[in-house]
Amino acid sequence: MVNRTFRENVVIVTGASAGIGRALALELAGQGAMLTLAARRTELLEEVAGESRNRGGEALAIPTDVSSREQCRRLVEQTVERYGRVDTLINNAGINMTTRFTDLPDLGVFERVMAVDFYGQVYPTHAALPYLRASRGRIVSLGSLKSFFANARADAYTAGKHALVGFFGSLRIELAGTGVTVTLVYPPWVATELRTRALDRDGRPWGGVSRHEEGAMSPETCARLILEAAAARKREALIPTRAKFGRWLALVAPGMVDRTVAKETEPES
Ligand SMILES: NC(=O)c1ccc[n+]([C@@H]2O[C@H](COP(=O)([O-])OP(=O)(O)OC[C@H]3O[C@@H](n4cnc5c(N)ncnc54)[C@H](OP(=O)(O)O)[C@@H]3O)[C@@H](O)[C@H]2O)c1
Repeated sequence: MVNRTFRENVVIVTGASAGIGRALALELAGQGAMLTLAARRTELLEEVAGESRNRGGEALAIPTDVSSREQCRRLVEQTVERYGRVDTLINNAGINMTTRFTDLPDLGVFERVMAVDFYGQVYPTHAALPYLRASRGRIVSLGSLKSFFANARADAYTAGKHALVGFFGSLRIELAGTGVTVTLVYPPWVATELRTRALDRDGRPWGGVSRHEEGAMSPETCARLILEAAAARKREALIPTRAKFGRWLALVAPGMVDRTVAKETEPES
């Protein structure tokens, strides 16, 4: 049966020019959503907007850098000007980095990743909250398995993804009784450009091919699972069984979990 939860639902998707965000936009468009699509690469964003309209959705493309508070405010305002409300905010935009903290020449790349991965979800959420309260809407946050576990690198991606759990978990408690729900999702490896585009120590895209691409989940499957969880207003979704076990094991044998994580996430550059 076709899911119609998002039919005529006003949805903002950040990071909609590629990867999981693009797949979310197209899946939502197929359900008849009224979309606002945000990312920096205007041409790609317009392409996704065009394809969304072809699939039966409405789509507005708004070039946005989510690390800018002002641009996030404008993103929400333009959505409300166009559609009159916001029903769902999907905080998806993100970037990764490749360098260990101990190898960073300065903190420029670290601050950039934190600005996109953490504040890039806080800013749209703050701007959209009055409208989400009015519509008793949904907030979705893209975390990662690195939201739960440490990494072989003390990098800003891991720190930012951990910070999202604290922020959105607290916001969920603040919003209890308002009708606004918060769904945190933790995808496993997904076949996108996230790792290829990860910033190197000089802030340039790494450009390599990660060993994790083999067997990765497709962005389309990931998008479908995210939307099923959001439709059902679940607290959390997409936690692989291994990660559930790992969370429990970390309480009783944290050193063992550290060693496993170190093997699986050691730097590739
Ligand atoms: N792929 C995985 O294995 C995986 C696993 C767990 C979690 N995730 C999470 O899933 C989300 C989507 O990642 P993805 O895998 O789809 O990566 P992706 O293919 O690299 O797509 C990232 C998206 O974020 C946008 N973006 C990056 N910086 C931005 C900024 N400053 N302002 C606005 N948009 C920005 C990019 O668009 P522009 O470059 O055009 O701005 C692009 O649309 C991220 O939050 C990521 O952490 C991914």
